[in-house]
Amino acid sequence: MILLAVAPFPALVFFKFWAAPGRDPGTLLVVACAMLAYCLLVIGLAYRWDKPSYFDWAVGAYFLLASLSLAFWPAAAGKTFARYSVTGIFLCLFVAALFPPLVGMDPFTYHYAKKYTPKEVWGNPIFFTINRIMTFAWAGIFAVCVALSLYPSVFTRAVIPVAFIVGFGLSFNLRFPNYYLRRLGLPSLAEQRRMALQKEDSEEVISPTLLPKSAWEAISAMPDVFNGEAAGDLSAVIEFQVSGSEVFTAYIHIQGGNCSLEKEPPREPDLIIETPADVWLAISRKELDGQQAFAQQAFKAEGNLGVLIAMSRIFSGAPSKQARPIRPGQTESAANSAARPDESGREEGMKILALNSSPRGEGESRTEMMLEHLVRGMQEAGAQVEVVHLRKKTVKNCIGCYTCWTKTPGVCVHNDDMRNELFPRWLESDLVVYATPLYYYTANATMKAFMERLLPVLQPFIELKEGRATHPLRHQPPKAVLLSVAGLPEEGIFDQLSSWVNFMYRRHGSLVAEIYRPAASLMAQAAFKEKCDDVLEATADAGRELVESMKISPETLARIKQPFTDLESFAQIANLAWKTCIEKGITPKEMRQKGMIPRPDSIEAFMKIIELGFDSTGAGDTEAVICFKFSGEVEGVCHFRIEDGTITSKSGGAEKPDLTIDAPFQVWMDIMTGEADGQQMFMGKKYRAEGDLSLLMRMKELFGKGD
Ligand SMILES: Cc1cc2nc3c(=O)[nH]c(=O)nc-3n(C[C@H](O)[C@H](O)[C@H](O)COP(=O)(O)O)c2cc1C
Repeated sequence: MILLAVAPFPALVFFKFWAAPGRDPGTLLVVACAMLAYCLLVIGLAYRWDKPSYFDWAVGAYFLLASLSLAFWPAAAGKTFARYSVTGIFLCLFVAALFPPLVGMDPFTYHYAKKYTPKEVWGNPIFFTINRIMTFAWAGIFAVCVALSLYPSVFTRAVIPVAFIVGFGLSFNLRFPNYYLRRLGLPSLAEQRRMALQKEDSEEVISPTLLPKSAWEAISAMPDVFNGEAAGDLSAVIEFQVSGSEVFTAYIHIQGGNCSLEKEPPREPDLIIETPADVWLAISRKELDGQQAFAQQAFKAEGNLGVLIAMSRIFSGAPSKQARPIRPGQTESAANSAARPDESGREEGMKILALNSSPRGEGESRTEMMLEHLVRGMQEAGAQVEVVHLRKKTVKNCIGCYTCWTKTPGVCVHNDDMRNELFPRWLESDLVVYATPLYYYTANATMKAFMERLLPVLQPFIELKEGRATHPLRHQPPKAVLLSVAGLPEEGIFDQLSSWVNFMYRRHGSLVAEIYRPAASLMAQAAFKEKCDDVLEATADAGRELVESMKISPETLARIKQPFTDLESFAQIANLAWKTCIEKGITPKEMRQKGMIPRPDSIEAFMKIIELGFDSTGAGDTEAVICFKFSGEVEGVCHFRIEDGTITSKSGGAEKPDLTIDAPFQVWMDIMTGEADGQQMFMGKKYRAEGDLSLLMRMKELFGKGD
């Protein structure tokens, strides 16, 4: 092949030496005809083994011309060939280099380059461009040689042209393709060859269910299959003008190793692809080779074709099931459906992300307690739920730099758990539960920080809708459920939070439910265990309902927010608990860990705690009246009547009590809160008891609910 490639040139050199001044034209004619015959032989052989090059034809044409001119004008032609035979050689080279690409034929270097590059790149427009540039460069080199050779000296006809061709031409030939590819951010020829071989070895098989079903789906999924590593520091905007069965314009923005789909051009596009929808769909489904389609003009590409070439490499990731952005003109709800087909085509459960922003740990946090039950219900209904405790994650505060709207659209400047893990998981979810403790009547700072960091989901532009200025969405946000717990008991405690989330989310139609639990501080009190259990069971029901119907019934919501006690009792209990903490120098968590109950500081508080601690199960069918006579710091009398599994309390003495306890108030409070042993105190005569002492022995059984 190499011999065939250089075969025409010895004929030129041989003829040059024969065409010395003084040679008779007859001999020259014989030599020219012999060289013509030789060229025809080379062309014949080239056809047999490969294909003649332009040089074969150019040199052949040169000897045909020489033979004809020597035959018809021997004197003039003989003189001219004797004087300018070197110029003739360079002219052949110049013509072969310059004219074919001018008349739309492949550049001459293309013929040789094909022998050294993988087949996959032949149809590649960048391959054409490189060869075109190299061919014109060679035409320039040969033109200089032609000009130099007109001057009769060994330097201008041999030394300088040969030095120019070898020194500049050959090294340009070797370096230019890789230089050009590097400038476009593309792999070198050697890398392309290696990649082509690798591709042959491991042709990726994509499950048919993951193949796009429309050009829109294919283009909007490009950020999902984007390979940031392969893109390196490539920065480009690709405009798609899709026509035919689907008509839309969309922009793919690549920057800083990230890729996003835009409805508006973030800047002047680097590449514009005009394509019929079915062509792009076929390319995306790998049913049509993109390069061949371009070469056959099945679609048009204008601008930086390097980006076009790079596309197969930088969009090489596996198709994922990420949230689909909203298509122009598409309704937001249609963009995402709750259930998605998995790779085997089965329906996957709803994908739920449950975020808990309470800073308190397990056992302490009522938000977490509620969320656990909600999640249980969701899982029982078949959802895939992932719980994230934000206290364990790094979510830096938004710094308002708007990098995510400008320099790296859709990507935050902070390199933390939010950008790298939570935001992508949030986007992928069908439903997100925002579980936050109520802090100052709204979401706590941790949840707020998370929500503020969702800014990349919006686009910077302003859209006027019903007289309101809004930002269009960049991605479809997942459906939202708000869960909050509060320390205080009033119904209206969540009004501000509710108004805020409704304002924020309802207009995107993404808020599907709000779950509020007031007086959550009482949830850990054993005295309210039954009600608390019902609240938690109702919360699990809410989880089931959400997965099944994307809403929660009013009955379930009413059970969740059912009052534990009246406002007065709440205040009394809460105050006793706080006083106990302050007096004992302990936190609520330590109080709970020690199993302590609020310590009454008055007869009324005592009556309340006894009522709350009354255990109807323990009491069974007991009928009794128990009277307390307190002395010391707090003096007074009260009694409790137990009948039909209920308890009523009254201040003052009872007529015929079954048991009367006469005790210093603090002694009985020590016994009640577990700080002193009741039996020891009785034996030590710290208090007195009269009547049915079996009732005294059953105190824990009767009032142990608040234990
Ligand atoms: C800083 C702070 C602010 C609070 N603000 C409110 C409030 O405005 N209204 C309310 O009812 N409870 C408020 N609480 C009480 C919490 O809502 C309550 O303790 C809740 O149970 C905390 O949730 P967690 O148990 O999941 O941590 C606040 C608590 C803290 C620490």
